[in-house]
Amino acid sequence: MEITVLLFERDNRRLREEAADLLAECFPHAYGDCAMEEVDIILADGRIAVMALSGGNVVGLVGAMPRYGVTAWELHPLAVRASARMRGIGTKLLQALEAECSKRGGITLFLGSDDEFSQTTLSDTDLYVDTYAKIQGIRNLQGHPYEFYQKAGYAIVGVIPDANGLGKPDIWMAKRIASRLSS
Ligand SMILES: CC(C)(COP(=O)(O)OP(=O)(O)OC[C@H]1O[C@@H](n2cnc3c(N)ncnc32)[C@H](O)[C@@H]1OP(=O)(O)O)[C@@H](O)C(=O)NCCC(=O)NCCS
Repeated sequence: MEITVLLFERDNRRLREEAADLLAECFPHAYGDCAMEEVDIILADGRIAVMALSGGNVVGLVGAMPRYGVTAWELHPLAVRASARMRGIGTKLLQALEAECSKRGGITLFLGSDDEFSQTTLSDTDLYVDTYAKIQGIRNLQGHPYEFYQKAGYAIVGVIPDANGLGKPDIWMAKRIASRLSS
């Protein structure tokens, strides 16, 4: 499978529709009935969107928006077709996004990775109690993507307890994408 990773062609209607289909596939609970609207938001001016193509078709998508001026960008969303996973496409999308954010002044790339379906040991517990010990001792119970991000250099920097309902936290992760701190 030959993969090309490049900035999203915003004016290409077919690619937009394929991106919407991808979002609906990966996040049916969030975008099942509003994926095209979400694509319009992801491709809005000022944001970054990068796609992965295979045979000219969208197999992956990642986006980011500036959150603190241009120094910190929030990654949202990241999706790879189920049939194309575990072949390095997610990692390539992250690398391309990091390069693009860095070019625009980004120092930090951060993201929230929800744990709505009891996929980690941070779910179904009171995260106001022993918060940091629980974060340090996190274990993956069911393929939660936090480990994918850790392999790409992202660290868990916090949690939002109960973000998606009691015992369903958001896990916050971040990576320094600037090559070094200025003195
Ligand atoms: C998470 C996702 C983007 C990963 O994409 P991918 O193309 O399969 O990832 P890669 O092939 O680049 O994987 C890189 C490494 O991460 C690991 N990895 C990937 N997904 C993982 C997961 N869910 N849990 C644990 N490890 C994972 C891979 O095994 C690989 O490890 P290795 O280098 O030791 O072999 C993809 O699974 C996906 O789209 N999932 C559904 C949507 C989603 O959860 N998005 C993120 C929301 S925050």
